Amino acid sequence: MEKSSGKKNTAVLISGRGSNLKSLIKYSTTKKSLIRIVLVISDNFGAKGLIYANKSKINNIVIRYSNRKSFEDRLLKVLNKNNVDLICLAGFMKILSGKFIKKFNKTILNIHPSLLPKYKGLNTHNRAIQNKDKYSGATVHIVNDKLDSGKIILQKKVKILKSDSGKSLEKKVLKIEHKIYPKAVIKLLASD
Ligand code: GRF
Repeated sequence: MEKSSGKKNTAVLISGRGSNLKSLIKYSTTKKSLIRIVLVISDNFGAKGLIYANKSKINNIVIRYSNRKSFEDRLLKVLNKNNVDLICLAGFMKILSGKFIKKFNKTILNIHPSLLPKYKGLNTHNRAIQNKDKYSGATVHIVNDKLDSGKIILQKKVKILKSDSGKSLEKKVLKIEHKIYPKAVIKLLASD
């Protein structure tokens, strides 16, 4: 695999809509980008995000998830073959094992729709509203072997209004996600 101008070869893992993938693709096509997206991988044939990968002519594959071991073995092979230096999880709905994280041995980033350490896991927006929180937000963090618990790279908050529903909050947070994911990548790599 060809490497150029010190950009990190990056794989983006998705399971669905792919709006964060889209924002990472947009960033990766800027002149000063520190990454080059060499691969998009999905565990779901129907992931809409694959359309963005195809439109941008980015190599993409689907790895069927029949069990974790076979999925991760295949994933690791593909990542190594493509000289991937950085993984960005972007709405990837499977949990990667500690074993895999150790074997990959390079940085894995994730974006999460809450102000971690609050609301790990799913249904973050409704939980924030139910608890009458004043703020929610998004977090980019390093992936370790505990769910949504790795070192925080970047976080940005947004006000929760009385009128907000889970859906409207999701929309607001998603806008923030699209801004902070590329910024977090820059923050992580600029210090390399
Ligand atoms: C985002 O809210 C992200 O924070 C979470 O899953 C959602 C994925 O959205 N991990 P998209 O597929 O990037 O549009």
